Amino acid sequence: MRSFLILNGPNLNLLGTRQPEVYGHTTLADIETMCRSHADVIGVSVDFAQSNHEGVMIDTLHAARGAKDGVILNAGAYTHTSIAIMDAIRSIELPVVELHLSNIHARESYRHTSYVAPVAVGQICGFGPRGYVLAMDALLGHLEAVG
Ligand code: DQA
Repeated sequence: MRSFLILNGPNLNLLGTRQPEVYGHTTLADIETMCRSHADVIGVSVDFAQSNHEGVMIDTLHAARGAKDGVILNAGAYTHTSIAIMDAIRSIELPVVELHLSNIHARESYRHTSYVAPVAVGQICGFGPRGYVLAMDALLGHLEAVG
C-alpha cells in the first residue's frame, strides 16, 4: 500500500475560523477526515500533520524520506519565503504535490512566488478543501505513471 504524508504549515491549524471569506468554514480536522476517507477509497495510507514551525516542517519532511511514497504539502506562507523548505524537498527525493486552498495567483503579488513550485511535481490551488482530495489522486496517478 502506498503511503502519503500530508503536511500543513503555519496558521492552517486555525482553518474554519481564520479569514473564512478566503479559506471557508471547513476546519483542518474536517479536511483530515476527508483525506482519511478518500485514502480508504483509493487504497493508500496517510499521515496527516501540521506545524507552525519551519524547522519542525523540515524535520517532518526528512522523516518522510525512505518512509513515504510521496508528500502533499500546503506550506502556507512559508511557500513564499522558505528556501530551507525548498532545499528539504530536494533532499528527500520524494514526489511532492504543492497544495493551496486559495488561488495564490489571484491574490497579492507576494503570494505569486512559490519556492515549492520548482521542486514539486505540480501545484493544485484554488479548489478549497477539495484540493486535498485532488492532490491525493494526482500524487497516486503520478506514482502509477512513473512505476
Ligand atoms: C495558503 C496560501 C498562502 O499564501 C497562505 O499564506 C496560507 C494558506 C492556502 O492554502 O491557500 O497560509 O497556503
